[in-house]
Amino acid sequence: MTEQSPALDNLLTESRTFPPSDEFAAQANANADLYAEADADREAFWAKQAERLHWETKWTQVLDWSDAPFAKWFVGGKLNVAYNCVDRHVDGGHGDQVAIHWVGEPGDTRDITYAELKREVSKAANAFASLGLVAGDRVAIQLQMIPEAIFSMLACARLGLTHSVVFGGFSPTALRSRVDDAAAKVVITSDGQFRRGKAAPMKANVDEALDGAESVEKVIVVKRTGEKLEGEVPWTEGRDLWWHELVDGQSDEHTPEAFDSEHPLYILYTSGTTGKPKGILHTSGGYLTQAAYTHHYVFDHKPGQDVYWCTADIGWVTGHSYIVYGPLANRATQVVYEGTPNTPHEGRHWEIIQQYKVSIYYTAPTLIRTFMKWGKEIPEKYDLSSLRVLGSVGEPINPEAWIWYRDNIGAGKAPIVDTWWQTETGAIMISPLPGVTAAKPGSAQRALPGISAKVVDDQAAEVGHGGGGYLVLDKPWPSMLRGIWGDNERYRETYWSRFADQGFYFAGDGAKYDNDGDIWLLGRVDDVMNVSGHRISTTEVESALVSHPTVAEAAVVGASDPTTGQGIVAFVILRGNVAQDEAKGEEAITALRNHVAKEIGPIAKPRQIMVVPELPKTRSGKIMRRLLRDVAENRQVGDVTTLADSSVMDLISSGLNSGK
Ligand code: WT7
Repeated sequence: MTEQSPALDNLLTESRTFPPSDEFAAQANANADLYAEADADREAFWAKQAERLHWETKWTQVLDWSDAPFAKWFVGGKLNVAYNCVDRHVDGGHGDQVAIHWVGEPGDTRDITYAELKREVSKAANAFASLGLVAGDRVAIQLQMIPEAIFSMLACARLGLTHSVVFGGFSPTALRSRVDDAAAKVVITSDGQFRRGKAAPMKANVDEALDGAESVEKVIVVKRTGEKLEGEVPWTEGRDLWWHELVDGQSDEHTPEAFDSEHPLYILYTSGTTGKPKGILHTSGGYLTQAAYTHHYVFDHKPGQDVYWCTADIGWVTGHSYIVYGPLANRATQVVYEGTPNTPHEGRHWEIIQQYKVSIYYTAPTLIRTFMKWGKEIPEKYDLSSLRVLGSVGEPINPEAWIWYRDNIGAGKAPIVDTWWQTETGAIMISPLPGVTAAKPGSAQRALPGISAKVVDDQAAEVGHGGGGYLVLDKPWPSMLRGIWGDNERYRETYWSRFADQGFYFAGDGAKYDNDGDIWLLGRVDDVMNVSGHRISTTEVESALVSHPTVAEAAVVGASDPTTGQGIVAFVILRGNVAQDEAKGEEAITALRNHVAKEIGPIAKPRQIMVVPELPKTRSGKIMRRLLRDVAENRQVGDVTTLADSSVMDLISSGLNSGK
């Protein structure tokens, strides 16, 4: 503990706690002893977790950190990732268990057992091998949430091909830069995708992206929209192949080969605020160990009993670790849904949960706040009694959204796990353990057993309880990124230079400890506001706004201010059931400003609050505060190409100019 100036002030206090019920604790996978066990011997702990997997050859060393920050885990071990996620369960007598309850957006469905998954993955692997692909080659996959997306990823893993999944909504330019960076030889896509009831072209975009792409030899096209898609599917003879023509006739038997524990499994690109996207590299043994370990304990998953549903897209790391690799390694039965949550109606998720008796549901705060905006009357119409664990990931969850989630989706009793991690960390790092942790709404709480995280100040000294600072990871972990594809220097510079002397990984997030030493994430440090010398977190002010009964969502930014340095400008979306005109009125806005002052303190009172119909978000649901700062400072709005819906900024600006 030091007296250094804090990176962030600790302003908002939240004192509600929700201890686990005795009933839940009695059946939980986790118990409190795990922390002590891991602390006593970290490497022995991880070696034990790695035993969850089938190794063709056992490792000789758990961790080699001699070339830090380049880690090697389970050195000398060999395994096949796809064998672990598929064949192993069939060999164990569970071939008839459903692996995937797939639900298409238009209402078509398909139940895929583990035996069938094995046949499909084997056929795809034989098909890919027939194209001459060999271990180490890269394959780009741009597919929506259809079974072939998962078959493709697992077939790559089976052959030792490194996949690079590109989100289905990304533009041709974004796809092209990723294909070029990884020098992908094959691209897998579909003719078109269903989006809000309409068929939109995919292959046409891929063709635009690949014009002149030198590395690409073949393009495999899954037929999904067929006749529903208007216009022709553009076709390049000699390069393009229909999936059904290539794959369907293949043998459904394929013998997997074991690969080194450090064999590259996938590259996944994340866009930073500056520069070209970073190709985050993940490898095999350590990654799968931590994905399986966290999925088992954090979600309290029981194979053969639970029905699990993670609502992410496979284009994001959440889809990699918590749809494909973690759950399948753990023999989960899971729902995979192709469409959007409001197609054809706003109760679609609840309808699916009711139908498949989903027991574990993992989603993002942005969606929870959207559900709040739509109103609790919608989930109330469905039977959600099968749900027993709820999860959240992607952003800090505002305490009020947490309470709403627990009350309206979890029947006031399902434990909520607020899981902090990143594309770079590969798997969950900080989270409550259901059945063990007394949950606090809005806090990710504590590093998982085997993981070490700290909140430190500018000088890398750990802050005391009640203090704020930077979140760092001070010990290597099995699923950590192994680098940035093709750019070791950028890897060191981006993650390891801020606290180079101490060898800490800096995640880019602000955080604080509460008085019990639990961790609260406070948003990206780039977004921190400085008001009269106080460093205020966007998350805390947003949470205070969302705790007001009229507000569903809020985004705040610091706009330059002649007297205070920066002034807080807030953008809010109202809840569906409030009288909009009244809530936009001067009196209501004053009441909101005072509410923030009461919750946090006068220093955090927004200078200005604007009611808006939407907020600018990236396709993965993160608010783009940079664009709101442009609005708040009356500037021309900057680059909007990574927005999920680029018309949102026009909507915001026109609303603001038309009187309010
Ligand atoms: C960033 C990583 C991890 C999969 C999805 C996002 C933020 C993520 C939480 C959480 C507070 C969170 C952080 C992090 N974040 N989960 N539970 N509480 N913040 O992956 O796109 O790599 O983003 O998301 O800012 O650094 P990603």
